[in-house]
Amino acid sequence: MTTIGFLGSGNIGGTLAGLAVDAGHEVVLSNSRGPATLRELITALGPHARAATPGEAATAGDIVVVSIPIRAYRQVPAAPLRGRVVIDTLNYDPARQGRVPEIEATGIPAPLLLQTHLSGARVVKAFSTVYFKHLADLRRPAGAPDRSALPIAGDDPGARQAVAALIDSLGFDAYDVGPLAESRRFAPGTPAQLAHLDPVGLLAAPGRPVPADQLAGLLAL
Ligand SMILES: NC(=O)c1ccc[n+]([C@@H]2O[C@H](COP(=O)([O-])OP(=O)(O)OC[C@H]3O[C@@H](n4cnc5c(N)ncnc54)[C@H](OP(=O)(O)O)[C@@H]3O)[C@@H](O)[C@H]2O)c1
Repeated sequence: MTTIGFLGSGNIGGTLAGLAVDAGHEVVLSNSRGPATLRELITALGPHARAATPGEAATAGDIVVVSIPIRAYRQVPAAPLRGRVVIDTLNYDPARQGRVPEIEATGIPAPLLLQTHLSGARVVKAFSTVYFKHLADLRRPAGAPDRSALPIAGDDPGARQAVAALIDSLGFDAYDVGPLAESRRFAPGTPAQLAHLDPVGLLAAPGRPVPADQLAGLLAL
């Protein structure tokens, strides 16, 4: 059993928290508006979930998931995350969402933005390739032929291992591509990032399973 802290409890954070509780983990959720606004979600998740401030969630988590709009990345508290394993779900897709001036001004490549801000944390990029509604549908028991693999990247091998174990417990295989800079292989708009989407139905259609051998081919493109 792992305690997972969440900075951001919206579509991705809230969905991952549900998967984590189902898998037997404890979750500590936070958002920008304060713990009282998370009451409904906490009630739905049950006794293994509680609400906190971002600072408390960061301190409570053995692993901390940052799942906020990327433009708010500077608000993630660095001190409580020093030395911790942090999952970065953030995507920046200027082609679709438009450019964010405060991100462009840094000159830092988007995949490295959070790790650069949290220089003392052990950041692993993960869950950035799945539409939140597909996450719950695509989980499968270990060994299932249609179990999906999710790519991960981070500069700390031990952190990647910890995140891979978490991903396995949630119903997916982790596919380790190595250092954080390699996450360019599953950046927004790449074949690996779009793999779960049905080309016809896109977000409205059910997610398509992408087992590890298929993902390997897409990551190499
Ligand atoms: N949606 C997807 O399917 C998907 C898939 C892969 C990756 N992503 C990426 O995951 C991230 C989150 O996406 P989302 O769709 O889950 O967004 P979302 O539904 O808008 O949720 C964002 C969450 O972040 C919280 N938040 C905002 N600023 C914060 C701060 N400074 N401290 C703590 N919490 C803060 C929000 O709280 P309040 O409501 O209180 O402001 C909300 O709980 C984005 O970077 C996105 O690119 C999304």
